[in-house]
Amino acid sequence: MTTPLLYTPAAARRLIADDAWSALAEPLEQARRETLNDVDLLNSGDAVPEDKQPLDAGFIEYPRRLLSNDVRFDDQPLLDVLDDSAQSLRERIDRLVVLGIGGSYMGPRALHEALSPFYYNELPRDARSDAPRLYFEGDNLDNDSARALRDFLTATCSEPAQRDQRWGIVVISKSGGTFETDAAFRLFRDAHETCFDSLPDDGRKLIVPITGQEGKLRAVAESKKYAPIFPVPDGIGGRYSVFTPVGLFPAAVLGIDIRQLLQGAVDMTERFKSAPIGENPVLDYVATCHILERDAGATIRVLSTWGKRLEAVGLWYDQLLAESLGKTKVGDNGETRFFGATPITGVNTRDLHSRGQQHQEGRRDKLITNVIVSRPGTDPVTVPEEANPADPEDRDWIGGRTLPELLSVAVQGTNDAYAAADRPTADIVLDQLDAHTLGQLLQMFMLATVVEGRLIGVNPYGQPGVEAYKRNMKTILGE
Ligand code: PA5
Repeated sequence: MTTPLLYTPAAARRLIADDAWSALAEPLEQARRETLNDVDLLNSGDAVPEDKQPLDAGFIEYPRRLLSNDVRFDDQPLLDVLDDSAQSLRERIDRLVVLGIGGSYMGPRALHEALSPFYYNELPRDARSDAPRLYFEGDNLDNDSARALRDFLTATCSEPAQRDQRWGIVVISKSGGTFETDAAFRLFRDAHETCFDSLPDDGRKLIVPITGQEGKLRAVAESKKYAPIFPVPDGIGGRYSVFTPVGLFPAAVLGIDIRQLLQGAVDMTERFKSAPIGENPVLDYVATCHILERDAGATIRVLSTWGKRLEAVGLWYDQLLAESLGKTKVGDNGETRFFGATPITGVNTRDLHSRGQQHQEGRRDKLITNVIVSRPGTDPVTVPEEANPADPEDRDWIGGRTLPELLSVAVQGTNDAYAAADRPTADIVLDQLDAHTLGQLLQMFMLATVVEGRLIGVNPYGQPGVEAYKRNMKTILGE
């Protein structure tokens, strides 16, 4: 096990009045209680009151339930079935296409980018944990991208009995009716049948649907006799589903340690339940974000990731925060209120050269949360020394130093510059980036989003606004 995730808002706290911080303690405790009571309400089987619907608090205890084999599938522990099926799919194919959008796509992508080796698809199979190459589709209606992947896959399957010619599909949709995923599944399923029709039984085993209990995808999957069909559990919404088969199955196919991911999530939930404010990453993060938004107009939250691996985690978090809290409420007095800070993901040091200027001197509407990984995943490389041929007196600042050393100096230099300009920053520090720390980080963000929703009186589950574009599409298509 690795060191617990650290959240240090000290630099931002300088810009928060002590009495504002103390006054939030009781409402924050109340939001924590409500968040946890919602789990009991969901488990009780009692009717969920209207103002709480939808209630998708199942994600909070699901990692613990999975690890204790409490969640069953065909009378076996679901986790064991996920492992076995992932192993069997991995052995059969050399390319995997994951189809899905929103919460049915961003979690698997975040796990892959954070934990698989760089240049994954370029590596030989043994450097990929003996796992297939990975492609995402169904996350758009982009003709050229869908066609390019489909053409590429069908052009390289002339010998379908050979593993290096075989590809599989994991199709993910909780509702089973999302246009983008549905369209992509039809396209790629047709292509798959063309390639692997000669292997009728094996062909079906290369397609794994992950979906809710009802809906078109389940019906199609059953009629095609795909097995297994993994569940997106009731009581867990799309963007909270990364630690269900949605994220876990693709991760297991890639050889990611899904038990460590779940353990990280469990450990974060335990800290959330028991640690006091001031030592509780979830509550401290919510307090910092909320007070700065309310009292200092920090309506933009920049998740500033340091290093390249966490960009997709940032995009996953953008969706989580935006879709959960970006909502409109009409009060009893008829007053309409709009909620939700705007999330933005940055990747530094890259974005110091694009967004840095604005963060330093632009509008005072931002809180910057750094995500810092203390130790690199591989041996540090050292920058060669080099004199400036035009100026022998010019000092070589970077020669002889390692990239991790320079990155850490860049973090410090940037934080110091923001502090000098009274720009609020806070740090999330991961000792290293592995399945256990990533499990903690993602669970922290999901819990924090729900707690903040309860604090400000916005239901963090559901996304009623997104329905408007889907309705309009149906109208335009002449339903
Ligand atoms: O968070 C959510 O619920 C959404 O982002 C959904 O995940 C997204 O709309 C995809 O839905 P589905 O899984 O039903 O295809």
